[in-house]
Parts: sequence; structure tokens; C-alpha cells
Amino acid sequence: MEGSSVFLLCLTASSGVPLYCRSKRSSRQLTFSVIGSLNGVHMFANNQDVLLTSTRTENSRVLWRTFHESINLIVMSCDSNASDHSLNRLLENVFSTMACYKLIDSFLTESEKIGDLTQCVDCVISNDSVILQECLDGFTQAAESEFGCLLIGGKVVVATEKWWRLASLDAMLLCWLVSSLSPHSSRDYPVYLPQGSPTVPHRLLTFQLVPGVDVCILCGPSPSLQKVELELVERFWKPVLDPVKSCLRLQLRSFPISLNLHQGILGFLLINRDLNKSLYTVQVHPFEDTQRSDIKCILEHRRASLRSFYTLTMLRYFSPEHHDGKIQYEEAFPEGFTHQAHQCYVVSSSHKCYATKTDLHFLFLLFKTNVPTFSMRAIANKTMQVFTKEFNF
Ligand SMILES: *[C@@H]1O[C@H](CO)[C@@H](O)[C@H](O)[C@H]1NC(C)=O
Ligand SMILES: *[C@@H]1O[C@H](CO)[C@@H](O)[C@H](O)[C@H]1NC(C)=O
Ligand SMILES: *[C@@H]1O[C@H](CO)[C@@H](O)[C@H](O)[C@H]1NC(C)=O
Ligand SMILES: *[C@@H]1O[C@H](CO)[C@@H](O)[C@H](O)[C@H]1NC(C)=O
Repeated sequence: MEGSSVFLLCLTASSGVPLYCRSKRSSRQLTFSVIGSLNGVHMFANNQDVLLTSTRTENSRVLWRTFHESINLIVMSCDSNASDHSLNRLLENVFSTMACYKLIDSFLTESEKIGDLTQCVDCVISNDSVILQECLDGFTQAAESEFGCLLIGGKVVVATEKWWRLASLDAMLLCWLVSSLSPHSSRDYPVYLPQGSPTVPHRLLTFQLVPGVDVCILCGPSPSLQKVELELVERFWKPVLDPVKSCLRLQLRSFPISLNLHQGILGFLLINRDLNKSLYTVQVHPFEDTQRSDIKCILEHRRASLRSFYTLTMLRYFSPEHHDGKIQYEEAFPEGFTHQAHQCYVVSSSHKCYATKTDLHFLFLLFKTNVPTFSMRAIANKTMQVFTKEFNF
């Protein structure tokens, strides 16, 4: 089995008929006998009234999930860092997008987004957001909709108020859908919303304003694609073409170049817990990074580190499960320790991580190792202030 390959199988629950199979970082397919065994062991357990959910071997991990008693999804991952939590998220996302292979594949690919893991909507901060918001609100209304957003590479620049009230899973999937499809000047795409409208399809209309930037609205039977394209797109968006173009510069960093963060920060994830939206980047200092030849590998490593720190923190510290009134932490804390952690950090040979939570936000920071451990808290506090106070995130 190759290094960190991932295999995804979908079968009918009743008869085990394979529906599809996708893989990541593998040139090989699973053989029929392996597929049969993976499904067979789950079925066998089921017949004995045992629910088989996961197992691990020395170099791989397998998870089974049955959805609606009709679909079995199985994932096998050879990535030693993959957690049950992240693989479960993968299965949930895949089930929610059952019929759309491009979207399923995008969940298996390395990405500059993190919504697949957080199930929050990835965003960027633009310093033109006021003017873009005004434009989007007018455009959406003129197109007889209340749900509109402006996307750059699948990240939200601005969205209408109603858009933020969609179930965050639905909103996240819509953003990932748009970025997973091949570029088009416009689209009229039928979508089911797994949480908000699982049985009645809506229309997702998208219009490319400049390559990489799309405006999307969610609507019913009217208006027609042509009507919006011919009568509204130019009228509303031509006057703001410069701010729209400047959004392209935000794609990697996710916030304006004019804003400087502490030199020791390599990446961060900020989550707004009310709107379930997030700001995520591992290129806080883009100029410094582009000098390096092994940049791709470095960024991948940063992403993996931040993702695994997020998973550890969320599962173990920020929303730990309660058993018998006691909190299950990673460490064996003394008996009777009942209050919840609000901050946590990890120090390793390649980086340091620090997380903090407030009523409204979670912040996860990835630091260079030369940042003194005692100073992470103050840097985190300052970073939080900048984004939540100055940019109102
Ligand atoms: C964003 O703000 C910075 C300074 O704060 C400015 O240099 C830059 O031109 C602004 N961008 C736009 C598009 O106005
Ligand atoms: C936001 O996320 C929380 C935690 O995952 C979830 O319970 C809540 O339903 C989400 N809100 C929306 C509107 O989807
Ligand atoms: C697992 O994560 C660590 C850092 O958290 C990293 O050094 C290592 O390369 C990762 N392994 C894989 C297979 O991605
Ligand atoms: C963060 O900074 C603010 C103002 O600078 C201060 O009031 C607050 O106590 C600080 N919080 C922490 C956890 O250090």
C-alpha cells in the first residue's frame, strides 16, 4: 500500500453491490476480493448484532458507516496521521454529495480550504467588503433571491444575510461544489441541500466575473439564467470590477496584504462560532515563502500539522465528551478535575501550536519553533483582536 493513499468505497447496504470507488494518491485499484472482504466483515458483524465502526492495522485505518440503512461507505486510509474524526467527516461529506464525483474527489485532494474538516464555510477578508456587500445584496435581490455569495476559489468574500443562515454544511458544500467544477462563464446547476432541502432541488446560478471569482445565487424556478446573465451581471458588477479583481490577491493568504501578523506565525485557523465561518491560511508571509524551492512540501506539512492540531484540540479539550460527569482529556489529570480547557498548546521538533477559545471564536495558530512558548498566548490574543475587532470577523 502506497505511503498515504486513501480508498473510498460505496456499496448498497442490503446486497453489497459496489456503487463506486474513488482513491487518492494511488495508482492501483482495490481488487474485488478486498472490496468483498471489507464489506463482508461489516455484514458479518451486523448479522451478529455487532456494529463495526473502525479498525486499524500497523499501517492503515478502516472506517465503516451505514447511511439511512441503505448505503455503506467504507474508507481505508494509509495516512498514519488520519484520525477517526477526520475520516468520519470525510464519510459524512461524501454521503452528502453522493451523486457528484468531482465534489467527492475534491474532498480527497489536498486543498487550501479546511471546511471539509470543520464543516464551516471558508472565507477571505477583503478591505473592499463594504462595497462588494452592497453590490451583492442589490444583485441578489434583483435576481429574486435572498441567498447570494461572492466566491474566490471556493472561499466566501461576502454573502447575503440569509446565506449565513443556511445550515453550515449546506453552505460549505455549495462553496466546494463551485470550486470543484471546471470553470464556466455561467451555470444553472440543480442542487439538493442535505440539511435544508434534501428532497426538493433548488437552482444554483453561478456567473464568473473574472477567472477565479464567481458570484452565486440560490433560487427557485425563476429567473432564467439568460435573464440574469444578460440584464443583471454587467449592470451590477461592472462598476466594481477593480475590487472584484483585487480579491484574486487574497486567495492564498485569505486577508489583505496590508495587514501584518507576527513573524513567528506560519498559519492559523479562526472560526466564528456563531456563523460557522472560518479564516484559514498557511501562507501568512507569502513573500518569504515564495523564495523557497520546496514550498509545496512545506505547505502540505503545515496544513497537515494544523489539521491534526485542530482535531486533537476539538476532540480532547474544547468539546470533550463527558463520561460520568468527568471530562476525558488526553492526559491523566487528577480526579475531580471538572472545568473545561480554554487554551492549549503543543510543542514539537518542527513547530509549535496554540489554541484559544472565547464565546464567539476558536483560534488555532501554527508557529515557528523559535517563538518562545510563553509568548504564544499574547500573540494569539493580539491576532484574535485584529481579526475580530478591526475586521469584525
Ligand atoms: C486595502 O487597504 C490597504 C491599506 O490599508 C491599501 O493599501 C489597499 O490599496 C487597499 N486595497 C484596496 C483595493 O482598496
Ligand atoms: C454551527 O456549528 C455547530 C457545531 O458544529 C452546529 O451545532 C450548528 O448546527 C451549526 N449551525 C448551523 C447554522 O449550521
Ligand atoms: C504526520 O504529521 C506529522 C506532523 O504532525 C508530520 O511530520 C508527518 O510527516 C505526517 N505524516 C504523514 C504521513 O503525513
Ligand atoms: C487579551 O488582550 C486584552 C486587551 O489587550 C485583554 O483585556 C485580555 O485580558 C487579554 N486576554 C488574555 C487571555 O490574555
